[in-house]
This record gives sequence, C-alpha cells and structure tokens, in this order.
Amino acid sequence: MIWNQQLTQDLVKVAPLYERVKSVIPDVEWPVHAPYVAAINELKQERNAVILAHNYQTPEIYHCVADITGDSLALARKAVETDAEVIVLAGVHFMAETAKLLNPDKTVLIPDLRAGCSLAESITADDVRQLRGKYPGVPVVTYVNTSAAVKAECDICCTSGNAVQIVESLGSDRVIFVPDEYLASYVADQTDVEIIPWQGHCEVHERFTAAELEDYRAGHEGLTIIAHPECPPDVLDAADFVGSTAQMQNFVVTRRPPKVLMVTECSMSDNVAADIDDVEFIRPCNLCPHMKRITLAKIYESLKTLEPRVEIDPLVADRARSAVQRMLAIGG
Ligand code: 13P
Ligand code: SF4
Repeated sequence: MIWNQQLTQDLVKVAPLYERVKSVIPDVEWPVHAPYVAAINELKQERNAVILAHNYQTPEIYHCVADITGDSLALARKAVETDAEVIVLAGVHFMAETAKLLNPDKTVLIPDLRAGCSLAESITADDVRQLRGKYPGVPVVTYVNTSAAVKAECDICCTSGNAVQIVESLGSDRVIFVPDEYLASYVADQTDVEIIPWQGHCEVHERFTAAELEDYRAGHEGLTIIAHPECPPDVLDAADFVGSTAQMQNFVVTRRPPKVLMVTECSMSDNVAADIDDVEFIRPCNLCPHMKRITLAKIYESLKTLEPRVEIDPLVADRARSAVQRMLAIGG
C-alpha cells in the first residue's frame, strides 16, 4: 500500500462507512480496504449492479459494499426482487446459482468460482436418482446447499430457516432429506415426519464439539450459546437456541444476552458485533475457507470485467428453478 493523494481522498470518501465497522476492523487495516470500498461503490452505480452478501462475509464486504445481506433464504428472496442488471454474489457458488435460477436473464457474478461448499460436494444428481429408486414415491427435500443439478432431481428446496415447515408442507409421512445429516436430524427432532437422511456435513460446523461448549460455559458465567443446525446433535443439545444465521442474528439483536457465543462461522460474530455494543461476544472461531475466497479485490475485479459469470444448463435450470420456487411459494 502506497500512501498518496488518492488514498487520502478515498479515506475521506469512505469515512462514514468506517464508522460502521471500526469496532471490528483495526484502523491500521482500514487503509488497505478503503480504496476498494470506494472503487466498488462507484463501479456498482456504473454497472447497475447489486451486491448480495451472505452473513459469513467479512465486515468490510458485509457492511461497506453489500446492498443486501442475510441468510440463504433472505438472499434467495431478495434476488427475485432486484431491478439491477448485474448481481454479484458475495457468498458461495450454490448461492450464486440460486440467484441465477431466479434471474435467468441477468448477469450473475461470483467473484471466485472456486467458492464451493462441502455439503454441495457431498451429493450428486445420480445419488438423488438412486435414492428415488430405493424409496419410490417418497418426496425429496434438498437443502439449498446443493448444485443446480441436484436441485433439479428434487421436489423442493429448503434452508436452515424453514426446513421443518417445508418438510411438513409436503403432507407425506416420509421424506428424503439431503444432503446435511445433522440438519436432517434436527428436523427429525421437530416433526413426526420420518426423515431419511444423507451423510453430508458442513466442514465448518461439524468441527464444533459439545465438550468445547461446556468448557466455554464453565469459563464464562451467564453465557448464552446459540448454534446453527448444521452442527452435530450433541452440540445442538448443549445450546440454548438453534437457528439459521438470520435467526441467530435476530436472537442477539432482540434479546441482547450480556454474553453470547455464536456457534457458527467466525464472521457472523463480527458482523453482528459491529452493530451493537452492549453484548460481549465469546468467539470460538471456525472459518469457512470457501466463503473466505471472496475478497474486496476479487469483487472489484469481477465488477470491472463482468466475470466470472454463473451459467446453468437450461435443461437443468428449469427443473432446479421449480424446486426453489416451490420453497419460496411456501414461505418461512
Ligand atoms: P444460513 O445462512 O441459511 O443459515 O446458512 C448457513 C450456511 O452455512 C450457508 O453456507
Ligand atoms: Fe458450506 Fe459450511 Fe461453508 Fe456454509 S459454512 S458454505 S455450509 S462449508
């Protein structure tokens, strides 16, 4: 980084944005981000673009360049509503595919095509066809963390925010639920519907252990523990609240626990902490390497070149879109 007149101007221009993140981004780090923040916000106007950012994006993306933020469900919903010609998905590939399914005529960009997901990697379209063969007539619910090719083989999508509601909406006493084994087990605990799971896991949430949470509880009096349903069942049993990333955020913002531990990806706590100063965040940090592939520099490059674009085979897209739209029609 070279300190010059341009940098000084950028720092002035984006100073109000720094106010929003100064509790979570050290001031020595901000001059690295400021030029990108200024350039991206200008380029967005020129391109008639919006940036959709998942709750696991770093604070300089989430609070300083994103137009829409949220969990997977909120991003899917907002993707339908945008009038912009270009959508940049600051998140992982399956999220960008969902945005493209819902906006087939728009340019959808993902700043790094390698931003994958261990859950999406855990199952193929052929696996779903085999499950259908093994359990004829049983409807298939897919967590949104899958490829468009997998969604195309399924009846309906769900997210961690509406999984129970979606499963119960089908009116079936048995449902195949792919690919997250732990989310499936969480849903099975909340419903009388028999759940047939797949053995996929989130590489971030599967690393948390109940013993680790008990250690945190012992070390921090009055600690509230809230966890994402992609965690193993014993971790969820040890938590005080379980919900999607948006539900976790809402819990902290509305209930204001004096001390909270968010059992999920690291950036979540930073993004929520930037907005409130009366909650102490205890941070057991597990990074998602896929989410972290998205950086300001790559967002800038992507907006400049309008690459890499997300494209989906039209034959796959029509069927995958139906699974997403059925979910959105139900709500949650
Ligand atoms: P939600 O934000 O929908 O809870 O999903 C969490 C997640 O792991 C997305 O990759
Ligand atoms: Fe996938 Fe887990 Fe990363 Fe989310 S946090 S993108 S579920 S690997």
